[in-house]
Amino acid sequence: MPEDTRLPELVIRRMSPEDLPEVMELERRAFSAPWTEEMYRREMEKWEGCYLVARSGGELAGYGGALLILDEAHVMTLAVREDLRRRGIGARLLLELVRRTERMGARFLTLEVRKSNRPAIELYTRFGFQVMGERRQYYLDNLEDALIMWTEDITSPEYRKRLGELERRYGAV
Ligand SMILES: CC(C)(COP(=O)(O)OP(=O)(O)OC[C@H]1O[C@@H](n2cnc3c(N)ncnc32)[C@H](O)[C@@H]1OP(=O)(O)O)[C@@H](O)C(=O)NCCC(=O)NCCS
Repeated sequence: MPEDTRLPELVIRRMSPEDLPEVMELERRAFSAPWTEEMYRREMEKWEGCYLVARSGGELAGYGGALLILDEAHVMTLAVREDLRRRGIGARLLLELVRRTERMGARFLTLEVRKSNRPAIELYTRFGFQVMGERRQYYLDNLEDALIMWTEDITSPEYRKRLGELERRYGAV
């Protein structure tokens, strides 16, 4: 019998303190300069923060977070468990971040990403992020440059059309 590779239903909801042990485990695997638990606790408490977890079959599959500054949603973090990548979970989390931050008042999304991080750059490009600048030697662990990416106005008809297409493609993982 072929192995069943279907994913148990994915549930996306707000990150809570109970998620932190699993979040920290994935954080340390996914990033060369991981955040501390204290940083997540502080971010989660901010009213302008939107931090989400994706759970599948009760286990943490990924998480993502954004912080609203005026009408800009700054994507602060996004990670998916290595064995569950390329199954649309990152896209689902990002879709949910766009929807929720728009309801909070965001009109644009922005983020910084390592220049060498092709998977993330590909994902963000799908979501209409474009490179608008660079920060030289932004990452202190290896002095890598950051790309600064921005979306167009997410409330525009063009962006809504893009979101609709993304939703059809990744809406149900
Ligand atoms: C970046 C990351 C969150 C993507 O999560 P994911 O669940 O694997 O991404 P998805 O399956 O939702 O991918 C959606 C689309 O993004 C693009 N993409 C994602 N991973 C890719 C890869 N390795 N190579 C090329 N394109 C990729 C593709 O267009 C993909 O669509 P497709 O599979 O239909 O072709 C994941 O690779 C990760 O956790 N990386 C380590 C942490 C990190 O770097 N986070 C970003 C910090 S800025």
